[in-house]
Amino acid sequence: MLTHRDYERLCHEIWHHSKLYYVDHAPVISDEAFDALYKKLEELEAAHPEWITPESPTQRVNEALTSGFPTVQHAIPMLSLANTYSKEELQAFIARMHKLVGHSNVIFSVELKMDGIAITVRYEKGVLVHGVTRGDGKSGDDVTSNLRTVKSLPLKLIGDAIPDLLEVRGEVFMPHQGFDALNKQKEAAGDELWANPRNAAAGSLKLLDPREAAKRPLEVVFYGIAEMHPHPLATQHACHHYLAELGLPTLPIVAQCASFDEIWAFASRVHEARRTLPFDIDGVVVKVDSIRDQKRLGYTGKDYRWAVAYKFAAEQAVTRVREITVQVGRTGVLTPVAELEPIFLAGSTISRATLHNAEEVARKDIRVGDTVVIEKGGDVIPKVVSVNLDKRPEHTHPWRMPQECPCCGTPIERDPDEVAIRCPNRDCPEQIHRRIAFFASKDAMDIDTLGTKVVAQLIKHGFVKNPSDLYRLTEQQIGQLPGFKEKAIANLLTSIDRSRQVELSRFILALGIRHIGVGTAELLANKAGDMETLAKMSKEELMRIEGIGEIVADAVIAYFRDPDQQAEVQRLLEVGVAPKSVAVVVYDGHPFQDKNFVLTGTLEHYTRNDAAKLIKERGGKVVGSVSKKTDYLLAGSDPGSKLDKAKELGITILDEESFRKFLDN
Ligand code: IVH
Repeated sequence: MLTHRDYERLCHEIWHHSKLYYVDHAPVISDEAFDALYKKLEELEAAHPEWITPESPTQRVNEALTSGFPTVQHAIPMLSLANTYSKEELQAFIARMHKLVGHSNVIFSVELKMDGIAITVRYEKGVLVHGVTRGDGKSGDDVTSNLRTVKSLPLKLIGDAIPDLLEVRGEVFMPHQGFDALNKQKEAAGDELWANPRNAAAGSLKLLDPREAAKRPLEVVFYGIAEMHPHPLATQHACHHYLAELGLPTLPIVAQCASFDEIWAFASRVHEARRTLPFDIDGVVVKVDSIRDQKRLGYTGKDYRWAVAYKFAAEQAVTRVREITVQVGRTGVLTPVAELEPIFLAGSTISRATLHNAEEVARKDIRVGDTVVIEKGGDVIPKVVSVNLDKRPEHTHPWRMPQECPCCGTPIERDPDEVAIRCPNRDCPEQIHRRIAFFASKDAMDIDTLGTKVVAQLIKHGFVKNPSDLYRLTEQQIGQLPGFKEKAIANLLTSIDRSRQVELSRFILALGIRHIGVGTAELLANKAGDMETLAKMSKEELMRIEGIGEIVADAVIAYFRDPDQQAEVQRLLEVGVAPKSVAVVVYDGHPFQDKNFVLTGTLEHYTRNDAAKLIKERGGKVVGSVSKKTDYLLAGSDPGSKLDKAKELGITILDEESFRKFLDN
C-alpha cells in the first residue's frame, strides 16, 4: 500500500530527473525509466486524486481555454536597459560607473542578452504562483497556464534553502532547432512563416489554448532576482549560482570582469561564438556586480542606472542581384526570389533571399543588377535590406511580376483577400511536383524512398500526375528511371504499398488542403473519424472543433466541393489507400452542446482534465474565467472566488452529482 509520503517522494524524484533532463541536459536515467516513474505517478494520482497538487509533474498542461490574459500589477516594476552600440559608448558607461560608485575597482557581471520575451515568475514557499509578461513595465499579462507547459520551468523549486518568496526575472525563447521544425510544419501547411524565433516565442506565449502552447518548443532562462525573502546574496554573480541551485535554468555563459578590457574581450568572444549558439542573442548585458552598489545607483526613468546592453549589429553583407526568379508553391502561390552572387554571411553562404511578394519588391524597388545590402539579423531567413542606388547599372527597369506562371505559362490570378498571386492551373508541373513530394513527405504518407528527385523523374516520364498514380506504378515503369535497379525498384514499390495503411490524420494532411498542418489534421481526424464524415461536415460543425477557425473551415469546405479533388480522393480510396478510422464518441444534441463551462474547486471523481474532456466530447467549451458568457460553473469542494462571481452573475452552478447525471443525457 503506497502512502502519501511515497507519493511526495515520487514527485521529488520526478522533479529531480526533469531538472537533470530539461535544465542541465544531463539525464542520469534512461527515457524509459523516466516514463516508468511518470506512469507510476499517474496511476497513484488516479487512485488518489485528492493528493494532486498544482505543482505535480502531471499538472503542467491545464485544459482550460482562456478568452484573454488577466492583467497583473508587478510587485517590483520591470524596468528596461539603456542600449549602447559602440565600443566608445560602452567605455563611457564603465567610466560613469567608476565615477558614481566612487572608485575604479568595480566588478561587473557580463551576460548574454537573450533575444526573447521578458517574464517575471513568482514562487511562494518554493511553489510556482504565477508568470507574467513585462507589459508596460508596471503591469503585464498573466501567462501562467502557458508558461507551466515550458518543461524547463520548475513548478516547484528544489534544494535545502528554498526562500519563502522568490520573484525571478528571465526570458522565454525558442531555440533554433524547434523554430526551424515549427516553420517547416507551417511551410508544409502553406501558412505564413514566423519571421524569427522571437516572434514565434511571443506568439506561442499568447496562445489561448495551453495545450497548443505545450506543443511549442519554448525554453526559459533566468538572469535576475526582483524580490526574495530572505535575501542572503551580495552579488549578481552569486545570483546565477543560487538560482541554478534551486533548479532554475540560468544563462549558459556569464563572466565576472574587473576592467573594460576584460568586458570587451568577453563581448568579442561572444560575438564570434554567436552563430554557434543554439538560440538567438542580440548582444551582451553588463551589470554592476555588487547588489549594494546596484541599490545605491537605482534607476533613471525607465532604465536601471547600474546596467547597460551592448547590442550587436545585425550581420550584413553587400552583394549583387543576378536575377529575380519566381518560385511556384504547392498551392500555386508565386514568390519572388533574389538570386544573389554567393556571399558568406554569419556562418553560411547565401545565394538566395526571399523577396516575399511583388509589393515588397516594388516598395524597395529592387531590380536585376542592383547592388544590395542583405542582412541576417534576428531573422534566420536572409533579407534584402536596401539597394545602393549609386551602383545601379544604366537602363534597368522596375521589376514586375510576370503575367504568366513561369512554369506553365497560365495567366496568373490575384487572390482578392490576400497579397498572394497564384498560378490557378492545378496541372502546373511545378505544383504537381510539390504536391506529390508533400504527399510522400515524412509527416504525411511517409513514403521514405520517394524523394523530390525521384518525384521529378516520375513526372518527367509522364508516369504520375496525381498522388493516386503512385499506387499504379509498375516495375517496368520504375525500371526506366535513371539508377533504378532491381533492389531499388522493389524498395520503392514496397514503401508505396506500405503507405496504403495510414492513419487518418496523416492522410488528411497529405491531401494538401490549404492551411492544414499536422495539428489541424489531427483535430479533424479525431472529430470526423473517417473521410466520408469529414467530406460532409458543414462549416458550423467544423468551426465547433476546438482549435479550428473560419479560415481552416472554409479551406476544408472548398476542398471537398471541388470536383477534381473529390475525384482524386475517390481514386486514392479505389487504389487501396485505407486511412484508419478513429473512434469518436458522438453526443449529438447533448445539453452541454455549445455551452461555456468554467471549472473551480476539487472534484471527487474526476481530475479537472477529465471533466474538461467529458464536457468537450459533448460539444461544450471550457474557459478560464467566469463572465456573462458562462453558462455553467462546475464547482467542486473549496471553490474559491469563481463561485462568488458566478452567483453574482446568476450563472447555473452544477455540483459534481448533477454534473454526473447530465453526462449521460
Ligand atoms: S537584466 C528587466 N539581463 O533585455 C530589466 N535583461 O533590453 C533588466 N534581457 O527587458 C534586465 N537578456 O528582456 C537582463 N542577461 C539579461 C538579459 C536581459 C535579455 C532582456 C530583458 C530586458 C531587455 C532590455
